[in-house]
Amino acid sequence: MTGEDSAADLDGQVEQDAGKLGESPESTTVVVIGAGPAGMTVTNLLRRAGIDCVVLERRSREHVAQRQRAGIVETRAVRMFDSWGLADRVLGGVPYDGVLEIRVDGESHLLSDSDGTEGLGARLCPQQVLVQKLTAAYLADGGDLRFEAADISLHDLTGDRPTVRYRTADGTVRALTCAFVAGCDGDHGVSRTTVPEGVLTAHAFDHGIGWLTVLADAPPPARPLLAVSPDGFAAHFPRGPQTSRYYVQCPPDDHPAAWPDDRVWDALRTRLGDPALVSGPITDREIFRLRSLVHDPMQHGRLFLVGDAAHIVSPMGGKGMNLALYDADVFARAVRDFVRDQDDTGLRTYSQRCLRRVWNDQEFSHWLTRTLHDAGDDTGTGPFHRGLARARLDRLFTSPHASRAFAELMTGMDPA
Ligand code: APR
Repeated sequence: MTGEDSAADLDGQVEQDAGKLGESPESTTVVVIGAGPAGMTVTNLLRRAGIDCVVLERRSREHVAQRQRAGIVETRAVRMFDSWGLADRVLGGVPYDGVLEIRVDGESHLLSDSDGTEGLGARLCPQQVLVQKLTAAYLADGGDLRFEAADISLHDLTGDRPTVRYRTADGTVRALTCAFVAGCDGDHGVSRTTVPEGVLTAHAFDHGIGWLTVLADAPPPARPLLAVSPDGFAAHFPRGPQTSRYYVQCPPDDHPAAWPDDRVWDALRTRLGDPALVSGPITDREIFRLRSLVHDPMQHGRLFLVGDAAHIVSPMGGKGMNLALYDADVFARAVRDFVRDQDDTGLRTYSQRCLRRVWNDQEFSHWLTRTLHDAGDDTGTGPFHRGLARARLDRLFTSPHASRAFAELMTGMDPA
């Protein structure tokens, strides 16, 4: 379908399905769906490359800016932002010495993510701080970001000029034609579900593990802390000067109401092996199942899936947000090469390149998930797997080669 055809078709459609008519379709190079870490990184990188784009986000700016999830921007991602000249502007939080504590039955082991390379290291930067800074930087540079864009639909993805339609808060239907669509709208977004049945293969895995996740106004630990105990896994992460995120392993179908404050703090003190752990008001409490998901390929025609829209990685290892930042970088470079040099190599190999890292990080996360759960409470997998997991930890704590390989995976500086 040509640009003119699709525009004519679109005008007809808009008249049919809208009470209020928008203007004729606008045109841009990339329409980005979703203003989370993936979407806002794509837009900032595209602007740095001089490529125009429009971001459509279903929720309000306030909602997006408050959503709390990940907390570590790995070394590779910090250096990625730096390579685009953006590190100082978009990375908040505090630099991180790269040391992680793994406590086994109360005994502390420190693992450094130092991989011997020079340069910027990881940052403890909560996701909402990163998103707020990316949004502010994009808007300050005159970026086009439209919140509360409802009923987004994607059309002509396999043609030369896709169209994206949406409805504004006042009910006006608008349309944008573009060269590419970046689907950055997460696991429940509209982008991936637009792809016809049979094009993508979903590889899904349920770890059979639940985590109670708690956010509290309580002192953060000196460094990220993961704990193995006979009662099950627990973790304690910094999220701000007086804010902490805790995780407590629980049955996957458990309910947050079964975890009143006293039970949460008792479980944490026991599993972290820290009877003096200081408590604080709990501001959020949820339970979720650990699951992993990969969609292959990450592209359909001119739609490119970026971040959670293409893959979910279980939270162990902190790779979810970092994978989104990786995809965003690969996509932005590919579009830049195409627009600037008419080189489509990056676009053609986008899915293949991203999936290599996705599977690499899925493997790391799966390995760490199994190791830190099996080594503790053996009711799920039995004493044999407990022995295997303890042997893996022993190797990690005693072999310089094993800890170096772990560091490489933590930083994201591995070759994948
Ligand atoms: N239309 C427009 N926007 C949408 C739609 C839709 N139909 N559906 C979802 N969105 C928006 C959401 O409101 C959200 O702002 O897309 C954004 C998706 O953001 P995330 O779910 O955070 O996904 P992503 O940007 O890929 O984040 C990557 O960070 O911590 C993690 O768990 C998170 O691993 C994930 C990562």
